[in-house]
Amino acid sequence: MFKNLSTSTKLIILCGMFILSIGVTTYSLVAEHRIAIDFARKELIGNRYLAVLRNVYAAILSDRPIDTITASPAASSEGALNALAAEQASVEGELQTKELADSLIASLRELWARRAQHGPTDTLVLDALNKARKLATRVGDDSNLTLDPDLDTYYLQNIVAGKVPTLLGQLGEAHVLFHERPQAGGSNEQNLRFVLDGLLRSTTDSVAEDLSSAYRGNPDGRLKRAVESSFGTMTTSARAYLGALNAIRVDNEARGLIVGIDTASLDALYGKAVGNALWAWGGAQIELDRLLRQRIDHLLAKLRRSLLLTGALAALSIVVAVMTHRRIVGPLERLEAIARTVRETKNYTLRAESDSHDEIGHLAVVFNDMLSELAAARDREITEQAELARADRLMTIGAMTASIAHEINQPLAAIVTNSNAGLRWLSNASPDLDEARAALKRIAKDGHRASEVIGSIRAMFKKESQHKGLHDVNDIVQEALSLVQGELKKQKVSVRTELGPSLPPVLADRVQVQQVVLNLMNNAIDAMAPVTDRARILKVRSAAHNGSGIALTVEDSGVGIDPKDAERIFDAFYTTKSNGTGLGLAICRSIIEAHGGRLSAAPAMPHGSVFEVVLPSGAAGEA
Ligand SMILES: Nc1ncnc2c1ncn2[C@@H]1O[C@H](COP(=O)(O)OP(=O)(O)OP(=O)(O)O)[C@@H](O)[C@H]1O
Ligand SMILES: [Mg+2]
Repeated sequence: MFKNLSTSTKLIILCGMFILSIGVTTYSLVAEHRIAIDFARKELIGNRYLAVLRNVYAAILSDRPIDTITASPAASSEGALNALAAEQASVEGELQTKELADSLIASLRELWARRAQHGPTDTLVLDALNKARKLATRVGDDSNLTLDPDLDTYYLQNIVAGKVPTLLGQLGEAHVLFHERPQAGGSNEQNLRFVLDGLLRSTTDSVAEDLSSAYRGNPDGRLKRAVESSFGTMTTSARAYLGALNAIRVDNEARGLIVGIDTASLDALYGKAVGNALWAWGGAQIELDRLLRQRIDHLLAKLRRSLLLTGALAALSIVVAVMTHRRIVGPLERLEAIARTVRETKNYTLRAESDSHDEIGHLAVVFNDMLSELAAARDREITEQAELARADRLMTIGAMTASIAHEINQPLAAIVTNSNAGLRWLSNASPDLDEARAALKRIAKDGHRASEVIGSIRAMFKKESQHKGLHDVNDIVQEALSLVQGELKKQKVSVRTELGPSLPPVLADRVQVQQVVLNLMNNAIDAMAPVTDRARILKVRSAAHNGSGIALTVEDSGVGIDPKDAERIFDAFYTTKSNGTGLGLAICRSIIEAHGGRLSAAPAMPHGSVFEVVLPSGAAGEA
């Protein structure tokens, strides 16, 4: 089916397929980038949520040494609470944090209320810190932050969503433990402080490890420049606070008393540790935000570049397709149109135009050459045809003249004979006018017959058939016999006829068939002329042939035909007679064949020859 489509349709299909494949490629390109961009955008949402949580942490931890917390200017309790509620509402449907956020909000409300009443808040602070940390972890999980694919942002988010909230929680717990009961000296208390101390150290250590991994993944070093000092300060102040706590513990162990406690400076160290942690946290979040946005910008720029490239390629392909159409399909269509016109009009002077040097240009040149050759061949053909027609006409005229000369010989001879007879009757002493009149009548009849013969020969050469009619072969035979009567008598030839009764008529030109019979009889008379030692007998037979035709035979007891000349006798101008033309049998055969019959010769037994004419009957001939 495809092979029968026009070249232009094939080209359109090809272009369509190409555009479709470009469309599919573009779609998958956009979809792929879209996924990456959406992924990073969700991370941004998580980071924004964590910024709100940072203020919540500041509000929770700012109950005592508020004035020392440097990094939380917006840490008003109500403000933080409202911001959290608003943020939670804005991420509804995107992050699965509602339950944890609601629970945290409830705890915070309770904490704020207790603070307002100046009641004990330790348990509530620890509870709120615990819930805030869980919420931070969930935000990290749900916003794809924990699945971040880049080295720098992955380790940075690890700090932002996990490590710093943990550190702040641990600081809060330590402070609660010590500040509320600094003088408690039980071994459990000691163990707990010991554990907390270990945890805090491990957290700051792991923050430092994450940071160095993040720096490795950030080749331009901007991240390091932005956060290194704030995290350094955070670690230093956290360690300073831990150091102070440990000193208290050591004193406690050594003396069994709590000595040298300077609550104010401990609070100040705590405030610094918390404040610097919040400050570092904020800085890390700003960097995370910047890196994520940078990634999105890169992705968008890459997508734009790819789309631009694809668009340019598609435009280029369309230009190439249009050029292909103009340079291939157009010329091919024009070539086809010219070929069709040439076929219809036989106008070989038309030429295909092409200025290209490609295969189509070569095709046009070959096509034009072919047309030139065809034009030359056509000219030659026309000239040859004219020459042939002339030669044909000349041959026809020659053959016709020869045939007329041959066929009117007999009537002319009869006219001469009758003229002489008529003159004899008139030249008698008492002229016999009746006989002379009869001779003149015969002359007129022979003249008439000569004219008929000429007419039938002309008809034969013109291949006319209007003279044909239904005739009885026996009548034609009788007529011919009467015409050769004089010659038969002169040559002492006796005639025997066996004419079949009630034969079907033949559809024939009577004069032509009569000429055939006459020619055969004359040849038979000629062949018997040299015979002196036996009777000269002419046998004429007619009979039905194979049920659908008539067979007529003319047999003589003459000299017979030399077997080597058996076929040549039918050639024009073949004769063995000094005064013969050699046309008689050739004319006979062409007449009989024009009537759908055949003429053949065979030796007769014991002497002479027999010629057989087979003609289809009228019914068979018309069928
Ligand atoms: N009945 C016959 N017996 C023997 N030979 C014959 C007979 N009829 C024809 N031929 C041979 O065939 C030759 C050709 O005959 P055809 O009638 O064509 O020409 P033609 O008789 O020689 O000349 P034309 O017909 O002008 O008198 C004759 O010359 C003769 O040799
Ligand atoms: Mg003859």
